[in-house]
Formats: sequence, C-alpha cells, structure tokens
Amino acid sequence: MTTWKAPGKLILFGEHAVVHGAHAVAAALSLNTVAAARFTPRADAAELGVSVHTEHSGGSERLDAAVRAVAEAVDPRARGELELWLRSSVPAGAGLGSSAALCVSAAAAIGDALANYRTACSSAWLAAVNDAALAGERVFHKNPSGIDNTVATYGGVVCFARGATLKRAPVGAERGLRVVVVDTGVPRATGDAVAAVQARLDRDRAAVEAAFARIDAIAEKAFSLLQAAPVDHAALDALVDENHALLRDALGVSHPAVERAVALCAECGVHAKLTGAGCGGCVFGFVHGASSSSLAALVRRAEEAGMRAHVLVLGAPGVGEVPTPPPA
Ligand code: MEV
Repeated sequence: MTTWKAPGKLILFGEHAVVHGAHAVAAALSLNTVAAARFTPRADAAELGVSVHTEHSGGSERLDAAVRAVAEAVDPRARGELELWLRSSVPAGAGLGSSAALCVSAAAAIGDALANYRTACSSAWLAAVNDAALAGERVFHKNPSGIDNTVATYGGVVCFARGATLKRAPVGAERGLRVVVVDTGVPRATGDAVAAVQARLDRDRAAVEAAFARIDAIAEKAFSLLQAAPVDHAALDALVDENHALLRDALGVSHPAVERAVALCAECGVHAKLTGAGCGGCVFGFVHGASSSSLAALVRRAEEAGMRAHVLVLGAPGVGEVPTPPPA
C-alpha cells in the first residue's frame, strides 16, 4: 500500500471571478494531506463499500460522499470494499484548499488501490487524478471552478481559467517567494460564499461582470509579474490592494475579521488581501518588503487578536508518493 500526498493551496488573485470564467493565480503550499487506500474486490457485491478513517473521527457523511464520488470517477464499475486512511496538516475551513488536498490525495491513493492508474506522474495520470478529484470537490462545494484541485495536482504556481489550457509558472519553492498568511479563525463555507456572489450577479449583473473583468486582468498581470526576475514588488502589492477592494466592495465577500487582519498586516508593512472564498478564513500578503522584526511583530499581534499568522513559501510540489508508512 503506497501513501500519496497532495498540497494545500493559496489563491493569490482571482478567486470567485474564476468560477465565472476569469483567470486566477494559485500556488501550492507546503502543507499536505496524505492518503492510503486498500481495495478488496468482490465481483458479486451490489455496490462499492467505502470506509474512511481520519485522525479525528470516523469522518462525516459529506466526506464519505466525496470519497465515494472520487472512487466512482476513478472506476464506476469497481465492486467490493474500499478503505481509505487520511491525515492532514491543511487547516480545514480556512480557505487553504483542505478539501482539494484531500480529494487529490484520495484520487491518487484510490487509483493506486484499484490498479487503474499505473504510471504515476505521467501527464495522463495527473489529468486522471485531477478529474477524479474534481468529482469529490463538487460534493464539498457544489460549483467549484476546479482551480483548487488543479493546483493541488500540479503544484507550483498556476494561472487557471475554466476550459482553458493551464499555464504553469516555473516558480518552485526554490524561488523563495514568501507570504504571510493570517488565519482569522472565522470558519466559512465555500459553497455558500460562491452562491452569495451568484446572487449578487443576478441582482446587479453589469457591476459584478465589470468586477470579474477587472479581476481577470489583475490575475493575468500578476502571473506575469510573478515570473519576472526580479519581481516588481510595488506593482504586485498594488494588485493585492486592488483585488482585495473588488472582493470586498463589488463582490461582498469580506468580513469584519478579514478587514481587521488586513489592517493588522498594513500596520506591519504588508499589503494583504483575502484568499479563497472569503467571508472569514485567511488573508495573505507577500512579505518581500517586510523586515523580520515587523514580521515577528505581526505574528505576535495576530496572536493577541486571537488570530494565527504563518510565514509560508509558495510553489510546493503537487501530488506524489510519500516514502513514509501509511497513516494508522
Ligand atoms: C475557493 O478556494 C475559491 C473560489 O473561487 C471557489 C472556486 O474557485 O471554486 C471562491
């Protein structure tokens, strides 16, 4: 039984607009979910039996349904007993791609157990893992764009638009692009936030479509800035500020705790924006300009405010095998 891992993610630019066809830029983080699966085939079984084991509990109905959707996407004809073990360092409900890391690592592990996916890391294998993971993401989030599972599959820094060829930047962890992520601790549900933006679009189509178009341009510009050496930090920070203002004012997905976290970052010299679905969750900013003492001050002040701040490197690898024993 092989253990597989997939990373969490940070959406840098373009969240929500990406659901409606715009570009978005996301990076893989060095926080992972690991998964291992065992399959006992039973040709006479009426259906696939699925049991999911996590470190906290026996799972939940939605988790079981998501894993079943992943398994059915891997092989709709599989009959027998499938057991899946999961362990994760990606915080749940914070907008850091915990469900996508789960679905991608599960797809790799289930593909391995069902012996369907034989050539790990070939482009066909990656595409199959990504497609199967999206089936699970649909159970968690109703109408996901697919960016979260895509960055968890391919890793690095990607520019994604629905139905378009994925653009991958040669920006791995070795580039040392660092961000500070502040977790407000306010949980949020991606599906509900996406539905709230849809309702706003239905109410005020012209204004919301104009915001999507501007966010699309911001994401494309930011993707090219991120690939340049040296990075134009001031230009990137200006895009961070503008994207956050559009998310807050035009799409309405900020939250008082998110605004407090953005203000805290600003006081420490970091331009920050919300990331992921918003309405709580995390904010992030690039830390290029910040001194280590102001970063230490930010971490301390976040803690005083009941939040948690972490400095993370962007561009972790995507899905792959881990040379550790399977989770117990
Ligand atoms: C969630 O990480 C990002 C959203 O844009 C939803 C999606 O793309 O599926 C809010």
